[in-house]
Amino acid sequence: MESKEIRKKFLEFFEKRGHKVVPSSSLIPDDPSVLLTTAGMQQFKLYYIGKADPSKDFGAKNTASIQKSFRTSDIDEVGDDSHDTFFEMLGNFSFGGYFKKEAIQYGYDFFKEMSLPIDFVTVFGGDKEVPADEESEKFWKELGVKKVEKRGREDNFWGPTGNEGPCGPTTEIYVNGVEIWNIVFNQYYQESNKTLKPLEQNGVDTGMGFERLAMVLQKKKNIFETDLFAPFLELIPKEIPDRQKRIIVDHLRGSTFLLADGLRPSNKEAGYILRRLMRRVFVYEKLYKIPTHIYDAIIHDIVHEYGEFYQELLRENNAVREEFKKEGEKFYKTLERGLKELEKISEISSVSAFKLYETYGLPFEIIKELGGQKAATLTRDGFDEEFKKHQEISRAGLEKKFGGHGLILDTGELKAANKEELKKVTRLHTATHLLNAALRKVLGQDIRQDGSDITAERTRFDFTFPRKLTPEEVKMIEELVNSAVEKNMQVIKEEMDYQDAIKSGALHFFKEKYPGRVNVYTVSDPKTGEIFSKELCGGPHVSHTGEIGRFKIIKEESSSAGVRRIRAVVE
Ligand code: GLY
Repeated sequence: MESKEIRKKFLEFFEKRGHKVVPSSSLIPDDPSVLLTTAGMQQFKLYYIGKADPSKDFGAKNTASIQKSFRTSDIDEVGDDSHDTFFEMLGNFSFGGYFKKEAIQYGYDFFKEMSLPIDFVTVFGGDKEVPADEESEKFWKELGVKKVEKRGREDNFWGPTGNEGPCGPTTEIYVNGVEIWNIVFNQYYQESNKTLKPLEQNGVDTGMGFERLAMVLQKKKNIFETDLFAPFLELIPKEIPDRQKRIIVDHLRGSTFLLADGLRPSNKEAGYILRRLMRRVFVYEKLYKIPTHIYDAIIHDIVHEYGEFYQELLRENNAVREEFKKEGEKFYKTLERGLKELEKISEISSVSAFKLYETYGLPFEIIKELGGQKAATLTRDGFDEEFKKHQEISRAGLEKKFGGHGLILDTGELKAANKEELKKVTRLHTATHLLNAALRKVLGQDIRQDGSDITAERTRFDFTFPRKLTPEEVKMIEELVNSAVEKNMQVIKEEMDYQDAIKSGALHFFKEKYPGRVNVYTVSDPKTGEIFSKELCGGPHVSHTGEIGRFKIIKEESSSAGVRRIRAVVE
């Protein structure tokens, strides 16, 4: 069955069963908490929480869609048999219409109609917070599915996308040992502090990977043999290794869709994801001496093959190809500079190779290939090792989003969009260490950090403590921090072994995974030797506390049971 036919069959199946077919939303979502659209349910978030009315907007409580989706989590796996970046997701959705029984029945019936035998299914096995989904298990068994496996949170609980949103237990359908369809029962709303609240109405959200479905229906060994990829792979010269061919087609397909939705390559956020995809294929073009018209031919074919279903591709055809060409021309200049730099180095070690990767975007393959004799001792393992070291350092602290380009700071804890914000965030970061220390001095040594989040506007710090703070305590804490600021204490960074750091009494965040070597930041008064604060941290910090400015607590509130939250600013 051709993929076009599968799309049609899916939508007709649900249309016949009272679902309104809704077009895919853009890959660039409205929701600022996610960079790209990763699931079909994203465009429907408001309907699940009762903030929009599906009957009014769709004339039904149930919808179905084929959603353009993009996930970066598996980007390094692309090239094996089942991973891609851009993919299509088939989904049916209900907002207070039907629930588990019907959703499972639909899943079962659709597979029957497609003559696809279900291997087995999984259901949520329950944990401390959410009970086991015995109902779903019962419904599957009633339908005659014998093998029902129970799984935990990591496998059978969905969401939320972004910081908060609808979520719930899932049941998943496996065919030929591959997970094909994920059926989510949205029963909860997860707040940004991770607490679950029951939703007023039950919701259904499903996601079926289209490429995988095509793979099993077309009886192929991997997704790249399906008609969704194969015709484009054929356009690439035979001599190029299969893995690289797959990467090229995956990345060209992803870039085409992203460009058609209006994204442009840049050094920031989603734009940087797009740039990375494009650069990788440009490097291969150079490395394997692929004739320059090939990529354009592939994009042309993608646009026309997919354009029947995704009209925006046809509409944006010229812009897509123009932008692609422009970015290529720009990148080749950087690439030239990188290659010049490569020429200057007499022996390419894993450290210098990693630097070339970071600064000029030269991947391992091209360094190895073009470095020739100079790169004789360079190995993939050595390079990966360097990469890992860098990642570990990043995890412990400073991470420039997506590998060191631009000035975006995002460590999970700290976020800054530009240089100005970075300065502010740095001041607030050191202030947060002072706050952590001051809390202990006033409330006792038992309090534990439970999370923090620092933007250019404010710091937000969560810590374990059983009750509301009194106004006097808040004032004392604030004054203690300000006294450290007034003394203009020095902030010193030392690198040491993790175990030694812990032994030295440095505070650390129990939820964080630290590498073997860590940085410890100590804030002390050089005149008296008084140590005010000592913490494991990846930075960045000011060098003297005087740079922080006046510290002010603007709110103290409950964050969840036994956890308090302080918001503070610096002036
Ligand atoms: N929202 C369900 C899924 O993406 O699997």
